[in-house]
Amino acid sequence: MTYGSLPGVIPLDGPDAFARDGLGLIAGVGDSVAAFDEARAAAEAVELPWPAEAVTDVAICGMGGSAIAADLVTGAYREVLLKPVTTVRDYHLPGWISDSTLVILSSYSGGTEETLTAASQALERNALCVAVTSGGKLGSFYAAEGVPVVPVVPGLQPRAALLRMMVPLLVMLDRHALTPPLTSDLEEARATLAAAVAAWGPDVPEAENPAKQLARTFEGRVPLIWGAELTAPLAVRWKGQFNENAKIPAYASALPELDHNEIVGFAGMPEQLAAMAHLVLLRDPRQHRQVQRRFDLTRELVESHVADVTSISSEGQGALARMLDLVVLGDYVSLYLALLRGVDPGPVEMIERLKERLAQTGYGRSADPSA
Ligand code: F6R
Repeated sequence: MTYGSLPGVIPLDGPDAFARDGLGLIAGVGDSVAAFDEARAAAEAVELPWPAEAVTDVAICGMGGSAIAADLVTGAYREVLLKPVTTVRDYHLPGWISDSTLVILSSYSGGTEETLTAASQALERNALCVAVTSGGKLGSFYAAEGVPVVPVVPGLQPRAALLRMMVPLLVMLDRHALTPPLTSDLEEARATLAAAVAAWGPDVPEAENPAKQLARTFEGRVPLIWGAELTAPLAVRWKGQFNENAKIPAYASALPELDHNEIVGFAGMPEQLAAMAHLVLLRDPRQHRQVQRRFDLTRELVESHVADVTSISSEGQGALARMLDLVVLGDYVSLYLALLRGVDPGPVEMIERLKERLAQTGYGRSADPSA
């Protein structure tokens, strides 16, 4: 696919083009297959001191880059999950979490206060706890309590560790027989990652690289990203990557819900916003027939109120492979856009500043996450 972009002032080809990526996030996407393999092995090696059948339901607690891993997994398997699986982004656990709930604490840094409070509540409820973390307070607190911890390599940005956070969740669902056996899905997903990196990676020149071409179409634009079913959490991932990598505002919504409210607002779209809005439709060949029609009809209704519309469809056999196909595309597009904007995609100063301020007065100050 091509997106008709013209070569711009800032090149996306050649050895110097990626110098601004100080933390090596673009090179990191290129290591996706290795990350996938390491994460799978780490999660398979962890001993679980309970039988698979002890689990009645699952809560995955996390925030930001560590929470979207859960949404992507439950999005891919939502039609075949055999027991309820919920993502919790909250300081409080829901009341239904009990001693038969598998509670997976997902925090890359192990220092996120919402996840830390959930971690201590989960222990109070005698839930079946597992942590996925590179360490931090969560790692040390849970290790001291004898809770199984899936170790994740430290030193990365949490959102860049998506596969390292996501694959252990898949392995945990598989090990508890909460999905049909995942072996062949995991193999296909791994192959998809390799193909995606080969198609969209930094070494592929812009003239042949749809991800670089697509990135240029977002210069000066505000992405409005729509998904549905499998692609609904993908829209949220793309939004977060535009926010955190490219440092721009971006918004995500899901069909069919947006057809019941959000479309009405397009009628009053301010001119300046209309001139900047770039609507992205994340589609999937297996979407419900009415969802396919909704994408087409809703687009027709709103396209005169936005500057651009781009429709992108996932490719692959299995749901997980189709999911990861678009994860990698969104990662590359947002990272290339950062370079076009002249910003380093790595640091997320706003998030760090906020966490530091919170830590001055709250949970972050204490060595005991329950304090
Ligand atoms: C930063 C990022 C954030 C973090 C979030 C929670 O790259 O993606 O959204 O994921 O602030 O932090 P962790 O993942 O360390 O629990």
